[in-house]
Amino acid sequence: MAVQPHFLLLTYPAQGHINPALQFAKGLTRIGVLVTLVTSLSAGRRMSKTLFPDGVSFVTFSDGYDDGFKPEDDRDHFTSELKRRGSQTLNELIVDSAKEGKPVTCLVYTMLLQWAAEVARAQHLPAALLWIQPATVFDIYYYYFNGYGDIFNNCKDTSYAIELPGLPPFASRDLPSFVLPSNTYTFAIQMFQEQLEQLSQETNPKVLVNSFDALELGAMSATEKFNLIGIGPLIPSAFLDGKDPLDKSFGGDIFQGSEDYTEWLDSKTKSSVVYVSFGSFLVLSKQQIEEIARGLVDSGLPFLWVIRDEQKKNEEKEEEEDHPSACREAILERQGMIVPWCCQVEVLSHPSIGCFVTHCGWNSTLESLVSEVPVVAFPHWTDQGTNAKLIADVWKTGVRVAANEEGIVKGDEIKRCLDLVMAHGKMGEDIRKNAKKWKDLARDAVKEGGSSDKNLKAFVQEVGQGCF
Ligand code: UDX
Repeated sequence: MAVQPHFLLLTYPAQGHINPALQFAKGLTRIGVLVTLVTSLSAGRRMSKTLFPDGVSFVTFSDGYDDGFKPEDDRDHFTSELKRRGSQTLNELIVDSAKEGKPVTCLVYTMLLQWAAEVARAQHLPAALLWIQPATVFDIYYYYFNGYGDIFNNCKDTSYAIELPGLPPFASRDLPSFVLPSNTYTFAIQMFQEQLEQLSQETNPKVLVNSFDALELGAMSATEKFNLIGIGPLIPSAFLDGKDPLDKSFGGDIFQGSEDYTEWLDSKTKSSVVYVSFGSFLVLSKQQIEEIARGLVDSGLPFLWVIRDEQKKNEEKEEEEDHPSACREAILERQGMIVPWCCQVEVLSHPSIGCFVTHCGWNSTLESLVSEVPVVAFPHWTDQGTNAKLIADVWKTGVRVAANEEGIVKGDEIKRCLDLVMAHGKMGEDIRKNAKKWKDLARDAVKEGGSSDKNLKAFVQEVGQGCF
């Protein structure tokens, strides 16, 4: 009797990785694959409300930072402990699963965990990377390390156009911040280099991308070396293919939310509310927060704004440092609602949402796309500038804010962008038309026989046949 496929799925302990990994796990179980999802204890402890579907087991391991990694911690030590303890856990799981008659047949790991590929090789298991950013960004890193490094290093001028095979032309603000000469996160670019080196050691490297063929047609096959496999968008079923109408959230939140916004959203008219969120990681300066508040107030539009506790703490710190303070909350409360966290996919699918002011994290970008919500793109770093470029210039589902010379986006600029997207002028109408088009294409990709559905099934079949 053939053994049931059993995937070990290792996710980096950050919300932007956990969400697509959980969704990927759900998709695998729907086609008969057993999944053991593995992450660190710190993330696992905060996912107490997560409901795992049948067929998914959840395992956590201590990386030595059980209260989570903090900015003041030693990053090199954290990275090496995550690798040492994570590798040990994977090895033990592989041995134990075999003893229990459920041998692991494949190991899939999210970005920044490239060492997992070494574990797989040592155990003679096939491995695949689950890339949680766009294919376009994968290609840009590839080119950076393969013949185009000098071009990136010279890219100081904002109007400079970079041409890379298979991709749209980029200005410097469109490139991932880690490849720019101004990058100070050397550990990050080193990790991407290590990632590519690991993949290069595979005879048939597999990169599963949380994207779909129609969305990034050129990028999926832009480099000769890597054929990227679009298996996304990895979004809860209720908002996408309807295969499971009860699947309405990622269900793995590591932040405490509030639910009292639902009634408030219900009280608003169709497409009237601006949803504002900057993801799970970014902390903005107090000055930038003040400008966003000003833009929202001046727009006169109702809004739902996620301000995480970490952001609040940062502002309190800046206040002590004598920054001017406006009586923001009082003015804002009349017009909108501020929450510490929400179920974003559910919010985006609410009929009252008319636009999303986002930092353009890749998950948020895809979530806006499948919800047909126009975007005000407000990128900051890492892949976000590239995602904003795709939104504003390639798919044309939104507009991008412009920052001033100090890197601040002023309130007037935010209001200007909100007016463009929310109003019924030509630009707003075109954006809404494009949003509808991409939502339909996203749904086509994941339905039975769609490109992502076929790609995922073909990948699982290849694993089963021992093809790589
Ligand atoms: C990080 C990087 O910053 C991003 O650039 C990269 O593309 C992915 O990894 P993050 O900043 O957290 O991610 O942004 P994003 O990718 O958008 O992921 C955030 C996730 O948290 C989304 O799935 C979103 O639905 C969820 N979220 C956010 C909530 O559920 N509730 C909230 O209140 C805010």
